[in-house]
Amino acid sequence: MAYTFILTEVHDRVGLVRINRPKQYNALNAGTMDELTRACAAMDADPGIGCIVITGDERAFAAGADIKQMMGASPTDMLDDPFIGYWDRLREIRKPLIAAVSGHCLGGGSELAMACDMIVASESATFGQPEIGIGVIPGAGGTQRLTRAVGKAVAMEMVLNDRRLTAQEAYQWGLVNRVEPVDRYLEAALVLGNEIAARAPVAVRLAKEAINYAFESDLQGGVAHERRLFYMLFATQDQKEGMRAFVEKRKPQWSGR
Ligand code: CAA
Repeated sequence: MAYTFILTEVHDRVGLVRINRPKQYNALNAGTMDELTRACAAMDADPGIGCIVITGDERAFAAGADIKQMMGASPTDMLDDPFIGYWDRLREIRKPLIAAVSGHCLGGGSELAMACDMIVASESATFGQPEIGIGVIPGAGGTQRLTRAVGKAVAMEMVLNDRRLTAQEAYQWGLVNRVEPVDRYLEAALVLGNEIAARAPVAVRLAKEAINYAFESDLQGGVAHERRLFYMLFATQDQKEGMRAFVEKRKPQWSGR
């Protein structure tokens, strides 16, 4: 498929989506978000792909939603526009999503990274919600996902006073999975993606669903949901194969069934 604002590649069993608006620090306009969500949906449906990595470039993962595109809008313009809804579409992706982040990761860019399931950061990554500086607040999940990730105190400072987190701080606060040198962060994300893609596909998908459900439910409801998914996996060939391979002391061969 031909895209204007993104590039796509496949690395073994990992689909890679690169945001490609370098002159604008990969600012996310409607065209970029439309292409990015369509590319992720196509990779989600591709049985050859087990995991998806979203990245920008070394200078910027993304400097937020495109301010020039939004600046003249009225509330009803925003309401009628599917733009902000693109961030929600990532929730429909069932395969694991990894954000490989370097440089500026701001506003809607940070919200995009947080909508992924894991974040691999380069040492130069900076995370922030600077919307207060342009007279608004995060609108694509930032106040909710950031607060759940780093807690109220840090989220308040970041959203109310544009405090930026270095990669190391983001790691300490639990926002990112790991921090890698700038020349290795993307490779590290692809290695992690391929490791996950080599695991039992249905179990991976349901594990992601179960963990994300922790943010939607109370503890009892979440545990009950997890239990149903756990029992469901006993209907898969991969559960039989995985347990048999353990007993027979060999590597399992996953069929994804
Ligand atoms: N939207 C539109 N254009 C942007 C942009 C954005 N978010 N971020 C950068 N650009 C553009 C600039 O307008 C500039 O374009 P021109 O060359 O045509 O003037 C170009 O990218 C280079 O930017 P700067 O000249 O500003 O470069 P810099 O090195 O001095 O600063 C930066 C880099 C710190 C990333 C700075 O550009 C910046 O602060 N960007 C905006 C960050 C921001 O406020 N993001 C939040 C957006 S709102 C949002 O995301 C809402 C939401 O929750 C969904």
